[in-house]
Amino acid sequence: MRETAPVRYDQDRDTWDVFRYEDVYRVLSDHTTFSSNRNAVLRSNQSSDNASLIAMDPPQHTKYRNIVNRAFTPKRVQDLAPRIEEITRELLDAVEGTGEVDLIREFAGPLPVIVIADILGIPAADRHLFKEWSDKLVESPHAQHDEAYQASMMEKARVSQELGAYFKKQLDARRVTPGDDLLTVLLEAEVEGERLNEQQLLSFCLLLLVAGNETTTNLITNAVRAFAEQPELQTKLRENPDLIPSAVEEALRYYSPVAAIPSRFATQDVELGGQWIKQGDQVVAWLNSANRDEAKFPNADQFLVDRNPNPHLAFGWGIHFCLGAPLARLEGQIALKAIIERMPNIRFKAGTELQPVTSTLVFAVKELPI
Ligand code: HEM
Repeated sequence: MRETAPVRYDQDRDTWDVFRYEDVYRVLSDHTTFSSNRNAVLRSNQSSDNASLIAMDPPQHTKYRNIVNRAFTPKRVQDLAPRIEEITRELLDAVEGTGEVDLIREFAGPLPVIVIADILGIPAADRHLFKEWSDKLVESPHAQHDEAYQASMMEKARVSQELGAYFKKQLDARRVTPGDDLLTVLLEAEVEGERLNEQQLLSFCLLLLVAGNETTTNLITNAVRAFAEQPELQTKLRENPDLIPSAVEEALRYYSPVAAIPSRFATQDVELGGQWIKQGDQVVAWLNSANRDEAKFPNADQFLVDRNPNPHLAFGWGIHFCLGAPLARLEGQIALKAIIERMPNIRFKAGTELQPVTSTLVFAVKELPI
């Protein structure tokens, strides 16, 4: 597509697909022309005051992002390293000697959920509840149409409500007794004398789960999948563990967990890649295609653990650049270092046929039996 139809109109979905690195970069960098706020662009009457951060434009986005940035400073994230190492160790200890594991169920699934629950300050006793809710929230609907799809969306709405009520209780408790956790930081964070209101706090907590858990699970799983497919990568990393951070970046580029950013809306008629996109049209930025663009990455279809530079777009770009990127990178580095050290010969279980997750916006498999 990058060669033959780099910007193409998809009649069935009524969207513009953008495939080349250069064009994806432009869409993500130019938030004035390519807005994240459907309601503003389509001049709908719906208020966007309580919208999620990811669907806001400046100036609302700038203000809100400045508040939540407080919770994800480099120091705050770096301080989490010992705790992430401990959780990693516990999860890997539990499967040591078993020979065969589904990496997602035993390790890559639970790790980010436990980490975020810890950061938020969720009591350990409630962790199982929290994991059930957040799993349900990110579960891909298995049926694309009809009643099963409706039922799955209704179930998600119900779970969001339950989780919302739970977060509300936790927030109320911290109003009385502040803790040393992210919920307290979010409650207290101020920009220009303003704090987040209750609705914004709840919607941000839900966004953290939706945006942060499945993506980090898929980063770790996709990297280990590449290691199983190309065992020479394991050898290289065992000989040179300093390359782990660069291997994490390459995994993000090579098997990008977020395949596409689906929601940008043209605020005016604009030319892109030789096509005229009309005001109000929806644009889909294909990160996985941009990250394999030969015009930007020499030998783009090879997994090079020491690729440098590696300006991939797996975390997006511009004002919506992933807020959790430092945390995802840290979790990925700690997890892969431990896996490479503790699993001397990673192979797929005999007869494995990988099942892709059904959503086209996510690049992931349902299980990784190794
Ligand atoms: C935004 C990818 C992990 C929180 C984004 C965007 C991408 C992305 C592509 C941009 C969306 C857009 O432009 O519309 C990823 C990947 C991850 C990851 C690949 C893991 C490998 C996390 C984690 C968290 C997180 C761990 C938090 C705990 C967010 C938030 C935004 C975001 C809050 C919205 C930022 C904004 O709109 O200003 N992420 N993410 N992400 N991500 Fe991540």
